[in-house]
Amino acid sequence: MAIPLFDTSSALGPLREEIKAAVSGVLDSGRYVLGPQVSALESEFAAYCGAEHAVGVANGTDAITIALRAMGVGPGDEVVVPSFTFYASAEAIPPTGATPVFCDIDPDTYCVTAETVKAALTPRTKAVIVVHLFGNIAPVAEIEALGVPVLEDAAQAAGSVGESGRPGSLGTAATFSFYPSKNLGCFGDGGMITTRDEQVAERARVFAFHGSRDKVTYEELGYNSRLDEIQAAILRVQLPHLDGWADGRRRGGEHYIQAGLGSLVKLPTPVAGASPAWHVYAIAHPEIARVQSALTAAEISNQPYYRTPIHLQAPMLAWGEGADLPATEEAARNHLAIPMSPVLSQAQAEEVTAAVRSALAS
Ligand SMILES: Cc1ncc(COP(=O)(O)O)c(C=O)c1O
Repeated sequence: MAIPLFDTSSALGPLREEIKAAVSGVLDSGRYVLGPQVSALESEFAAYCGAEHAVGVANGTDAITIALRAMGVGPGDEVVVPSFTFYASAEAIPPTGATPVFCDIDPDTYCVTAETVKAALTPRTKAVIVVHLFGNIAPVAEIEALGVPVLEDAAQAAGSVGESGRPGSLGTAATFSFYPSKNLGCFGDGGMITTRDEQVAERARVFAFHGSRDKVTYEELGYNSRLDEIQAAILRVQLPHLDGWADGRRRGGEHYIQAGLGSLVKLPTPVAGASPAWHVYAIAHPEIARVQSALTAAEISNQPYYRTPIHLQAPMLAWGEGADLPATEEAARNHLAIPMSPVLSQAQAEEVTAAVRSALAS
């Protein structure tokens, strides 16, 4: 049987009727934007994360730009960001007027560390974007100890837990994406900013609403970036199930370990103290192309996520060219995402492992 890279529909199946009722409720209410569903989700999501405040926005990319501006980032500033991540983590910086400065990662966890961030700091550094990549939880406290404000890009880490709490509560602010394939996904685009800082929350809300509090007076050049009521209602049905799905993702990782995959390829290492709800399960091997073709031949979905790291992408060359990021470049060459979902079974993990074993034996 073919094994998909993601399986979002199996976990959602039992919730279909509840989701339909929630959507019907919004249709009947006639309130489609900035209504009670978004407010309720903001409170519930802030409480879930252990954050003081949450602000719904249109997607995880806007969330980063808006959160950075709310943290005071602007023209002339630098923002440190890893290069081994989804493009949006860095793409969201130039619209603030600041410039990205790329830093390296730990090759085992795929996350930034205090050492890799420190190497990229300059007197112009205004913030660091710490990406909780693949669901792992980067060491935010150690990075904050360098004396620089941290924005957590937690787009891939809903449901994960770090040594000192959940993503969304660890840095000055955090951003989430509710893109459908995410650990907590809606049926379109959606995003959220969480923060412990009341002023950051207030500024984020103003930026997301055209830079205005009342649509009469405009304080800033802002954005029209809103989470809508239908998506919020769908997310409210799902949020109570997120921890159960996260446990399924953790079990999926354990299934791969029990199947012996770690004796064949490098498995992702949780950051010390972290319990990742794997969003992406990325293996690595110097001969990853052989592994990839064997998996594809066996109808096991797989995907190299970031073969060309961001600092080498054409629009980023002005800031990225010449950056010395050896662990990033090695991870980019050698990684491959294999199936992961809340319902990945031991039998599926064994099938994937058998295909990898035969690829490397031949
Ligand atoms: C690490 C990371 N940051 C940011 C984003 C952007 O989120 P969105 O697609 O909702 O704009 C994503 C999602 O694709 C992501 O994986």
